[in-house]
Amino acid sequence: MLITKVAKASGDPAADRELMKEASGIIRNGGLVAIPTETVYGLAGDALNPDSAKRIYAAKGRPSDNPLIVHIARIEDLDKIARDVPEEAYKLAERFWPGPLTMVLNKRDTVPKETTGGLDTVAVRYPVNSIAREFISASGGFIAAPSANRSGRPSCTTAEHCIRDLDGRVELIIDGGEVGIGLESTIVDMTVKPPCILRQGYINEDMLREVLGDILYETKEGTKDNEPPKAPGMKYRHYAPAGKLAIVHGSPDDTVRCINRLVEKRNAEGYKTAVIASDENAGRYEGAGIVKDIGSSEDEDMIAHRLFAVLRELDDWGAEYIYSESFDTPRLGRAIMDRLLRASANTVIEGDILREEMK
Ligand code: TXA
Ligand code: MG
Repeated sequence: MLITKVAKASGDPAADRELMKEASGIIRNGGLVAIPTETVYGLAGDALNPDSAKRIYAAKGRPSDNPLIVHIARIEDLDKIARDVPEEAYKLAERFWPGPLTMVLNKRDTVPKETTGGLDTVAVRYPVNSIAREFISASGGFIAAPSANRSGRPSCTTAEHCIRDLDGRVELIIDGGEVGIGLESTIVDMTVKPPCILRQGYINEDMLREVLGDILYETKEGTKDNEPPKAPGMKYRHYAPAGKLAIVHGSPDDTVRCINRLVEKRNAEGYKTAVIASDENAGRYEGAGIVKDIGSSEDEDMIAHRLFAVLRELDDWGAEYIYSESFDTPRLGRAIMDRLLRASANTVIEGDILREEMK
């Protein structure tokens, strides 16, 4: 088993120089390093080395047909790994890079098929986090990095989460503190016209539409003619907490009433119950074994930022039944609910089912 070193980075290039030298040496030798980004922590290896890709899949416990995102640290490097890049992609890059946007493009032969899970396309992202950028530049400019969680676990938003999932599986974990956003990047397929959103994220539909005009969504059933999902990762159950998670949808009063009833039932059966609640409602779930206040419903950035950590905390606590409120907030609601729905395997309960009964 590998000995994993954990080292703090400051984001100041001068102070981090030695650490970056060490980290880039590991990457150039085909090793793995967990790194902070502005979205979630990544599990980084050399994107141009097929053996590094294989090691990433093994460390993560991920099926090797699920492609990796290639991270760059200069817009000029886009053309070195992608070809036939459409004008719209440059427009998006100009507007949102560096930042939490990933674009799927036709790949060049320099990118091995191991990195792209056998596909002829490559997903490219230019993160804004300064530690990530220093690291990518120092390591040759092309870094494959899926989210650092073990396959099926919630993504990592702190170095401690990475230690939990990757101790003994990577050479180094760079601790850059808590990530800012907390949800993975938005993914847009630029190989189709009009471009298609494959994964919701911080860069939302409205922001993309301002640049692109027409955006097509991928439906849950798959794309046209019921093809499989274009982002292969979306077919796997994701972010699964160990307990059974259900999302309750409805007005605040209906939601609270419904969750309290469900909690009461599961408590009586002897289960450990948990609730994920907005700050406004958190005090209304007295019977639950634990209540996680995820933040004010007015503060959607906080909800996004806390979501994965809350799911992990509930695992650690041993929650067996978890009931979550819905967070259909204006800007990030789609991305937040996408992650919650996946974590719950699409288990949604309408909160008003008890309304008649309560009259
Ligand atoms: O914010 C992020 O994007 C983070 C940080 C570390 O940058 N990375 C991340 O990677 O979320 P990962 O591997 O957990 O998710 C990447 C998703 C998967 O669903 C994968 O199937 C999809 O992107 N993907 C990668 N390459 C693709 C391609 N060529 N075509 C379609 N989907 C692709
Ligand atoms: Mg992931």
